[in-house]
Parts: sequence; structure tokens; C-alpha cells
Amino acid sequence: LPTHYTLPSGDKIPSVALGTKRGLWYLDRGTHSGHIGVWQAGRGEVGNAVKTALYAGYRHIDGAWIYGNEAEVGQALKESDVPRDQLWLTSKLWNNYHAPEDIEPILDDSLSKLGTDYLDLYLIHWPVAFKKTGNNVLDEELTADPYPTWQKLEELVDKGKIRNIGISKIQNLTSNPLKYQPAVNQVELNFWNPQPELLKWSKENDLLLEAYSPLGSSKQVAKSLAVPEVKDIACKLGITPAQVLISWHVQRGTIVLPKSVTPVRVVENLHVFELPREDFDKLENAAASHPQKRVVNPSKGWKLPFDVFDGEN
Ligand code: A2P
Repeated sequence: LPTHYTLPSGDKIPSVALGTKRGLWYLDRGTHSGHIGVWQAGRGEVGNAVKTALYAGYRHIDGAWIYGNEAEVGQALKESDVPRDQLWLTSKLWNNYHAPEDIEPILDDSLSKLGTDYLDLYLIHWPVAFKKTGNNVLDEELTADPYPTWQKLEELVDKGKIRNIGISKIQNLTSNPLKYQPAVNQVELNFWNPQPELLKWSKENDLLLEAYSPLGSSKQVAKSLAVPEVKDIACKLGITPAQVLISWHVQRGTIVLPKSVTPVRVVENLHVFELPREDFDKLENAAASHPQKRVVNPSKGWKLPFDVFDGEN
């Protein structure tokens, strides 16, 4: 299975990353301030997971400003002593900072917390822009067409603060001509929501997908690992059910971002194996042959006048 994919910039992005989000609280409440206390409950966990991951050989860490733990991740990176040019660091622009003048300061905040002067990848976290001052106050213009946001990101690429830019949970960014096309699209992909049409479209359009909640997230991980096809393949190959699912994602041609703060799982999740064709097909068919169900959708929590995923991914 591929250990890396090559992006349009020529950069090679590792196919398996450590996801660093903990909890869904901010999605449910739709706020960007006040969630910090909740994150503090898990303080230390993410840093330890990052250190375990780097020690085990991960070189790709997927984070975001809103996770509220970039300083902890940065400290772990520093203590791990992996040279910066061997690391792939992703962060994401939060909804309140889509206005062009707000982007560089919030990017700088992520950079300083992570202890680096550039990101390998910066994503627009959601195709939803809020006003800077008002949580859940929609910026309709920037939501309808994020072209000014994207142009600012392109400028920051030219300035050297970001090496690649991408999107999340959206298929068509804008109808305007772009200097840099989105390098990746980070979307929910798992056994319960495998999105084969989106995967096909993305391959045809040279847009690499990144799978978040690849095990179905904490809500459905137990159910995912107990799927009969997953268990059978695991047994046959002598690997764990989580490894079957993570391998399936890479074999489908996507980046995979499993999250864990449990050291033995962090190590387990990095080791992917090529599934025999018949097993891969069996899993792909099983994933497509039940009602599709998305794990994460904050549209109601954010009181949006539309569904973020209407016609999108
Ligand atoms: P924990 O962090 O306590 O180890 P997803 O990546 O789909 O969002 O799923 C994350 C959830 O899956 C977390 O609850 C995490 O638990 C759990 N998890 C991650 N890796 C494994 C694994 N190898 N085996 C079992 N559970 C796992």
C-alpha cells in the first residue's frame, strides 16, 4: 500500500496520520470560545499520543486550531526532536476567521503554538463562514463563495507560511479561476458512510481525499470493529479489525486519519496491510449495502438555515 501520495505541489504526504481531535463538544454547542475547559479534561492525552506516534514512526499529524490543543501538540513535537522537514503538519482555519484580514493572525497563532514557521497543509475547516465577532452569526457572502478566503490562502502559500491548501466537506469550492487548486478534501469516510461516488469523482478530478472518523468515530467504533466481514478478514490475515479498516481506506486511495490516545492503538493503527482483492471487494460491497449514515453534522447545532451536507460531502 502507498506510504505517501504526491500532491500537485510535488510534496509527498504520508498516507496514515494521527488525528488529534478529542470530543465533539464544540460541534454540538457551535461555539469557539468556552470549549477550552472541556479540552483541558484531556490535557496531556494528546501530547502523549503525539509522542507515542512519532516514536512509532508516524510523520503526519492532523490538527486544527479549534481543537484547542495545538500548544500541547507543539510541545510534544519539540520534545520528540523529529526534524521539521520530516514532519507533515496539517491545521485548519476555523469558521470565525474566513475574512481575508483575519486569516494570517489566526494562522500565526497556530504556527506559534505548534512551534513552526510553516504548515504543510492548511484546510478551510468547514464550508461555513461565521462573523468574527458572533458565534453562529453566518457570513452569508463568504459562505456562498469563499473565493476571497481562498485568494488569501493562496497569498500565504506564496509567502511561504503554508505549503499546500485544501478544503473539507465541500466538493466545489468556487466557480472563480484559482491560482492553486485545493490539494485535498478532508471528509468523513468510514464503513457507515463510505461515499463511493465522491471517491470516484475525486479521483477523476485529481483531488485527494482524507478520511476523518475512519473507524466511525468514538460513537461507532465498537460497531465498526464488530462488522462480520471486518472480523473475518482480520482473522484470516492475522491482523486486528482496526487494521483491516485502516488498510481498506489506504487501499481505496485516500489518506486516513485515525484518532487514538491509547498507545497500543496508536502503534497498531500505523501498520497497514494490502488486503487480498476478494476481501477488499467484500468489504467495499458490505460498506455500500446498508443505509448510509453520517456521524458528524453540526448544521442544527449551529442553527444554520441550510444543511451543510445538502448535495455535498
Ligand atoms: P481511544 O482514543 O480511546 O483509543 P475515529 O478515528 O474514527 O474518529 O475513531 C476514534 C475512536 O476510535 C476513539 O474512541 C478511539 O479510542 C478509538 N480507536 C482508535 N483506534 C482504535 C483501535 N485500534 N482499536 C479500538 N479502538 C480504537
